[in-house]
Amino acid sequence: MSNAKKIVEVIKLHKVYKDFWGREKVRAVTNLNFDVRQGEIFGLLGPNGAGKTTTIKLLLGLLFPSHGKVTIFNQSPRSIFSKSRLGFLPEESYLYPYQNAEEALTFYAKLFNLPPKIRKKRVNDLIEMVGLEKARKRFIKEYSKGMARRIGIAQALINDPEFIILDEPTSGLDPLGTREIKDLILELKKHGKTILLCSHLLSDVEDVCDRFCILYSGHKICEGDIDTLLANEDMMQVTSEKMDADRQKRLASWFAKEGLEVYNFGNKRQRLETFFLQQIEKAREEHMEQQKSKRELKEFVSEAKKDTKGQENILEQLVKTNEPEEKPEPVVEEKAPEVKVEDLLKKEAPAPEQKQQQEPKKEVDQSLIESLTNKKK
Ligand SMILES: Nc1ncnc2c1ncn2[C@@H]1O[C@H](COP(=O)(O)OP(=O)(O)OP(=O)(O)O)[C@@H](O)[C@H]1O
Ligand SMILES: [Mg+2]
Repeated sequence: MSNAKKIVEVIKLHKVYKDFWGREKVRAVTNLNFDVRQGEIFGLLGPNGAGKTTTIKLLLGLLFPSHGKVTIFNQSPRSIFSKSRLGFLPEESYLYPYQNAEEALTFYAKLFNLPPKIRKKRVNDLIEMVGLEKARKRFIKEYSKGMARRIGIAQALINDPEFIILDEPTSGLDPLGTREIKDLILELKKHGKTILLCSHLLSDVEDVCDRFCILYSGHKICEGDIDTLLANEDMMQVTSEKMDADRQKRLASWFAKEGLEVYNFGNKRQRLETFFLQQIEKAREEHMEQQKSKRELKEFVSEAKKDTKGQENILEQLVKTNEPEEKPEPVVEEKAPEVKVEDLLKKEAPAPEQKQQQEPKKEVDQSLIESLTNKKK
């Protein structure tokens, strides 16, 4: 890999953000050197505010370096040649909210002047690849965070780029989606793509990257091959198949005889990600099995119904006990009282109907008063 062609070269790169008056505000990147080689996945790691996005913006030619040099395909990042061979997934994708997946991808394909036939096929392939077939006709504004990430990735691949920059590709995705995206990144590598992956999720980088560098406060603090950097030279790890208690005892006594300290001896602990994905897969299979048996029962019942007329009632009862048929209650539309302009104008004066209702009350009161006064007289 070390002899491979350099797709990106960053030499003594500095970026200082300045305020309106040209005064120094933030030193985002300081004396950064690294390269990305053809066919590899290179990770740019670092905590929040380390300068990862700034570096990517410099690679894309969206920002000018304060000092230093960046080349992509041996050319300036601003050249059309390098831009046409590059795909970019930003930290947050800003796609048109009132377009659906199909329209959005077609729009970007047109920007790259793809011929209609290729355009249509590419859009379909990408939608399928990122798992958005069911949502292809839905507005992007209705997408969940994970779905928005997926359409962003599809958009980054629309021009079938040789070099792809992914800024936090798995942010907002659930572990299942994260795994899928990581597999997709590995698949892209198999197809000969070169990838720069920027993330602060260590497991993402560990699972897919060949090499990485760590930025801290704009400075590169380490760089290298992932296997070399993560290898602990002071310890050995042997993973073997399961063994019985007797063999374990013999092995433990061998270590003791050799004077070797054993830090961990027992069943291999799997990663939480693997365990989680296994559980989800199991639950999904069980769910599908349940759905299938429900469907099978329904199909059997409806088939039997066709064959034997005499059993129709029993079978219907069976279906009803399994799945009570809920009859929707008839909806009675409540009519809003008609409001007439005249009524509104007469609001102050009581309506004639109201008067009629009030009059008998008045009569009672009057007679009561009269009887009372007569009595007094
Ligand atoms: N437009 C800007 N103007 C001024 N300062 C900026 C600007 N953009 C970024 N910075 C500063 O530059 C430094 C690096 O920011 P950057 O966005 O590159 O970090 P990051 O590594 O991508 O972080 P995160 O993991 O949070 O995305 C930060 O201190 C940030 O505040
Ligand atoms: Mg960032």
